Amino acid sequence: MRVDLDDVQALHDLDSMGMLGAAWNLPEQCEQAWSLAQDLPLPQVRDWRQILVTGLGGSAIGGDLLRVFAGDKLGIPVLVNRDYTLPWFVDRNTLVFAVSYSGNTEETLNAYDAARERGATIVAITTGGQLGRRAAADGVPVVRVPRGIAPRSATGYLFIPMVALLERLGMFFGMRAEVEGLVAHLRELRRRYGSETPVRNNPAKQLALNLQNRLPVIWGVAGTTEVVAQRWKGQFNENAKAPAYWNVFPELNHNEVVGFGQPEEILDRIWLVLLQDEADHPRVKLRMKITRDMVKKAAGITEVQSSGPNGLARVYSLIYLGDYASMYLAALAGIDPGPVRVIDYLKNELAKHK
Ligand code: F6R
Repeated sequence: MRVDLDDVQALHDLDSMGMLGAAWNLPEQCEQAWSLAQDLPLPQVRDWRQILVTGLGGSAIGGDLLRVFAGDKLGIPVLVNRDYTLPWFVDRNTLVFAVSYSGNTEETLNAYDAARERGATIVAITTGGQLGRRAAADGVPVVRVPRGIAPRSATGYLFIPMVALLERLGMFFGMRAEVEGLVAHLRELRRRYGSETPVRNNPAKQLALNLQNRLPVIWGVAGTTEVVAQRWKGQFNENAKAPAYWNVFPELNHNEVVGFGQPEEILDRIWLVLLQDEADHPRVKLRMKITRDMVKKAAGITEVQSSGPNGLARVYSLIYLGDYASMYLAALAGIDPGPVRVIDYLKNELAKHK
């Protein structure tokens, strides 16, 4: 049954896994996540030439956040691996974060074993599962994350400990203040996006109404909001069980934008979201302006500007809006945002063929 977005009780009744509650608690999650890595034994080896984050889905997005965030801060590259295998360059000069909320994702377990074989320095981030057990048996440090929420609701737990650890290792500076700024800003934003705030004052609910029965196409910017565009797509897929697509400027100006000529009946179902950040390249800002007029056959465009006191808060301000909008989009279709039966089915089928 479709839910009226101002019927707070109905929104929560539909939400069997407490996704709305988990989103509301994101500021506290981020706060707690910072402390999770504080007691972790620091690795002895430190002559890394690269950092690799290996994980899938909700456990991988923190790796992308780190990659984008570290782009102008770290002296070594961060790569994200969403596969069973590892690139050939992973060796003893690589710091590997093996991230799996459940600890039972087979691709991540395989990649973990490969990282062990290559002699990489490994840190596991998980609630437990097989990854937790393997890491404990191997003497690999484990950031133990609290259980009880969906992996995609745990981005704070799965991302911030990496930042905290890199700060403790002297590779990042000033991150505690940045995380504090993030937490304070999220506390403000949840009052705008939360379920109790009615449609007329709630940009997340308004966005969901625009996206209803439409195909969301989310455009971010390389190096700033790219990870947000990817996250929004994943959240519309997993929470609203709806298709969504994403791309980034400036690349999309060299192909995707040409595809807004026909067929009009499909273009007319597309709702574009343009994600914007003050750190976007000035030429990209100009590109966005010009591009807006080239996609007039789409049903509509929403432009969203990040907000917040620092880079981390700005990226999360957009993630937070997409997280809430995707749950409201689910509600509009009468869909429970929590369970992802398709993913569970796939994992169960695969488990039958060991
Ligand atoms: C489910 C979700 C999925 C999982 C993915 C990997 O909420 O977001 O994308 O994150 O299937 O599972 P984990 O995170 O347990 O390694």
